[in-house]
Amino acid sequence: MQIIKTTDYQELSSIAAQMVASQIRGKPNSVLGLATGSTPLGLYSQLTDMHREAGLDFSQVVTFNLDEYYPIAPSDPASYSCYMEKNFFQHVNVQRSRCHLPNGAAADVQQACRDYEEEIDRAGGIDLQILGIGANGHIGFNEPSERLQIATHLVPLTEATRMANSRFFASLDAVPRQAISVGMAAIFRARQILLLASGESKGEAVRETVSGVITTRIPATLLQVHPNATLIFDAATISF
Ligand code: F6R
Repeated sequence: MQIIKTTDYQELSSIAAQMVASQIRGKPNSVLGLATGSTPLGLYSQLTDMHREAGLDFSQVVTFNLDEYYPIAPSDPASYSCYMEKNFFQHVNVQRSRCHLPNGAAADVQQACRDYEEEIDRAGGIDLQILGIGANGHIGFNEPSERLQIATHLVPLTEATRMANSRFFASLDAVPRQAISVGMAAIFRARQILLLASGESKGEAVRETVSGVITTRIPATLLQVHPNATLIFDAATISF
């Protein structure tokens, strides 16, 4: 795993944006795996600037988000669908027909999971996967467990994750108890992975990811065996 330590969140976001931009310039129809949450906001903002100021072209880019709450309407302001629209898609020239998120409103959620998996396969898999990390080491919503799921699946959210995400909802009670998450296979088949971590609360998870024992109890530790994974973290996260 390549490790890049930055002085602050701004630099972290800027290096990540350069890496994404270089992927898109090299392959305009790149398939990007995208994350939500606080960590990639700076990346999306920098990519927006690169689009506006340097003409970075997203018109052929294909995107697949890692996860979505379930159940949730795509129009719900707390949905990841709305998050992506507000923080990224509406600011660049992506074609909405090329942007995919798991369907949080599906009547048949198991079918929706299979469909999502097939769509990723049909697109040829992910070229560059952006990941954040949970304080418990989750990636996507692949939560610590004895067994991790291979494919896109419905996952019960841990109380810790619901608590951490309650800041986006009116109350803790309003946070959905489940989510649809891409599984470990689609993440690991990504040709390149960019794991972003910022802030002290991620320190322990990052330490384990870099040098801990590989365990499904801290899903991010599995990234140690990916052939092309880069971790970018800032000085506030941990001092190595
Ligand atoms: C979000 C996702 C999650 C987050 C993680 C960190 O799509 O897959 O794994 O990346 O929970 O969230 P933040 O960045 O809000 O600390």
